[in-house]
Amino acid sequence: MVLVERGLPNHVTNTKIDTASLKGKEDLTSLLWGPELTPETIGASRRIEHREPLPKISNLDATTNHDRTRIKGLHEGLIIGIDFGTTYSGVSWATLADFQHASINVITKWPGSDSDRAKVPTRLFYENSEILWGFQVTNDVVPLQYFKLLLLREGDIEDKVGESMELSHTKRTLRDNGITTEDCIADYLRAIWKHTLETIRQARAKRGIEALTFHVVLTVPATWKDYARNAMKRAASKAGILDYRTAGQTSLAFVSEPEAAGLAALVDRGDYVESGDVFVVCDAGGGTVDVITYIVADNQPLQLEEVVESDGSLCGGISIDEAFISQCKNRVGRNWSHFRRADIMTMLTKEWEYGIKPRYTERNGPDNYLRVMLPDLKMDVSRKAHIKPGYIYFTGSDIRKAFHTKAVPGLLKLVDTQLSQAHNKGLNVTGILLAGGLGSSPHTYECLEAKYSNRGIDIHQSVADGA
Ligand SMILES: Nc1ncnc2c1ncn2[C@@H]1O[C@H](COP(=O)(O)OP(=O)(O)OP(=O)(O)O)[C@@H](O)[C@H]1O
Ligand SMILES: [Mg+2]
Repeated sequence: MVLVERGLPNHVTNTKIDTASLKGKEDLTSLLWGPELTPETIGASRRIEHREPLPKISNLDATTNHDRTRIKGLHEGLIIGIDFGTTYSGVSWATLADFQHASINVITKWPGSDSDRAKVPTRLFYENSEILWGFQVTNDVVPLQYFKLLLLREGDIEDKVGESMELSHTKRTLRDNGITTEDCIADYLRAIWKHTLETIRQARAKRGIEALTFHVVLTVPATWKDYARNAMKRAASKAGILDYRTAGQTSLAFVSEPEAAGLAALVDRGDYVESGDVFVVCDAGGGTVDVITYIVADNQPLQLEEVVESDGSLCGGISIDEAFISQCKNRVGRNWSHFRRADIMTMLTKEWEYGIKPRYTERNGPDNYLRVMLPDLKMDVSRKAHIKPGYIYFTGSDIRKAFHTKAVPGLLKLVDTQLSQAHNKGLNVTGILLAGGLGSSPHTYECLEAKYSNRGIDIHQSVADGA
């Protein structure tokens, strides 16, 4: 069993954390608080036993000279967390001094968007010699997306996602243009990295960042094998993230997605966490749902002990999109291919992704109508879903089916397995912490509540900014 020191790295345990200020930034801030921020992972030359906490700043006299130099180095460092997601990515950053004031910066301004958003779409479009990314990619082109999943070998990717229209398009385009998955990810990371550095430089104005050593933390799904992590590392290197800097070698650490999410969610819970509580953390994202179970060994400062190993499955939010698109295609039939790509994408983004999908709840009933617009649709009420000029009228139960094709059963199965493994160790799970975009769904919440609340398990939902 691994003892994980959480909440704050040990050297800032005396700092008061304003957890309210962290609300809504969970996925991102967690990157900056994870267990990987031990000396070994942020580039110390001396190997220290894994997850050994940093010496307390107030305790400098008790540390060695080596520690003192190292701690000074850390104070001058800048930690940059990159949450590279299948569908959305985010970046947060803090100097170690910022850290002590619980002041973590989340990038919310992105090229191509006027509004503030904690995450940017993980998509690319190669336009002649220019590479468009994130919000720069408009609905009238077919972007490259979900490329994070292409890092997995054929045998490690479940068929359904492997067959997805977007993923097939991405695979084909990359192959036809002789671009490797690693290069594609590197192109995306290069763009987000350049934007990150520009943003930090602007924010720090005169103080600059040139003298600060960078410590980069990247999220990876719980079940990713070494080859996929290594490929991510190569992509980060190609993206220029590890380029030589006079301030010192940039370090790169990985943090597993449910660990990052779990920590953030527990920080969010603040005072409610008690020693002995056992939590299943469920990070339900766009590509994968990742789970892990912790016992709270201590709450002052927060110490977590992993009691059930992390697990994950490709049953995230895009599986709901796939199921919904199938319903649209089945209903419209051959005409589907005659619609303009821009009209389909506008419907899928504005009405589905930002409308029906995130708001769906069973509480509105199975017969509640939810319509989507596709210009030029002709009246056809001969069968369901009804089509009236320009609109398809789906019912609540149609949308439920899309959630229950893969995502909800996959998530429940993962949670069930964690519960029974905890139970086999004589532990009773007291709470389930939901994080990630799909984790913020009212329907995901009600499914978990229906299944587990009568067992005395409290369901906690983070305020995520998935989409
Ligand atoms: N309220 C909501 N209800 C349902 N789905 C949602 C909601 N908010 C966001 N999503 C979905 O969550 C997914 C994005 O979540 P998130 O940003 O956590 O994933 P990601 O980091 O891109 O993926 P991964 O972690 O699997 O690589 C998208 O499929 C989005 O449509
Ligand atoms: Mg994610």
